Amino acid sequence: MPIRIEDPFYDPTPRMQEDVNPFVGRLKQGILDGSLPAFFGPSLRDRKGTWQTHFEKQSLPAGSPVVVEIGSHKGDVLSSMASRHSDVGFVGMDITFKRVVTLADKAIASSLPNIVSILCNAKAMDQIFAQGELDGIVIFFPDPWIKKKRQQKNRLINQEFLEKIHSLLKPKGFLWFKTDHKPYFDDVCVSADRMFQTAETSSDSLWQDTYTSTFENKFLSQGLPTYEKVWMKPECE
Ligand SMILES: C[S@@+](CC[C@H](N)C(=O)[O-])C[C@H]1O[C@@H](n2cnc3c(N)ncnc32)[C@H](O)[C@@H]1O
Repeated sequence: MPIRIEDPFYDPTPRMQEDVNPFVGRLKQGILDGSLPAFFGPSLRDRKGTWQTHFEKQSLPAGSPVVVEIGSHKGDVLSSMASRHSDVGFVGMDITFKRVVTLADKAIASSLPNIVSILCNAKAMDQIFAQGELDGIVIFFPDPWIKKKRQQKNRLINQEFLEKIHSLLKPKGFLWFKTDHKPYFDDVCVSADRMFQTAETSSDSLWQDTYTSTFENKFLSQGLPTYEKVWMKPECE
């Protein structure tokens, strides 16, 4: 069940039955005994501005970049990025206990100390990350909310959210967006093109490699088109 509440420090577990959703108990225990690289609810408090330090404690070089994936799902894209870029800290964000635990399990199974998995509604990510703390944000195939016209207001990426992202990114930080939904893509481009510039690719750009997500694979296997763009926050504004 998705936890859509926007207070990232709220603990929904007292109202949940751990025998119905075994991932609730696993996440709580994994955080308590330190066996899972994950956080949710109260354990997310006071993390704002500390992510680089967190990854340094995991033996990443001082000053390592920090990249967030919103909607990290089963962690396939994030674990693949983390194994190719061992000197980058990756935070996966999702809204179900199962998905958060699945990514954390992958990080352990693949010995990737540069991954942290968090349960957080991306709408509240400015409570988890400080202004200018992030080097990159990846959003692949966010829920498009297309069944009814009025559902469009539920879309994650709108002008307000892009302004939030903009403030969390460092100058030259990137936003990498993919979707199968052309109207969503066009709307995001209209707003993002005003705030960001098209990213220039260099030899160490993370987005020059191919990372095909679970949803992307579904669309590709059906022969359906997908759309993507990478923007960069301008160095001087
Ligand atoms: C359509 S799936 C795409 C999953 C994956 N990125 C991919 O491309 O295969 C959307 C994902 O975003 C997560 N999600 C939806 N709303 C979210 C929100 N507000 N904050 C964080 N994650 C969210 C969902 O739980 C789900 O894992």
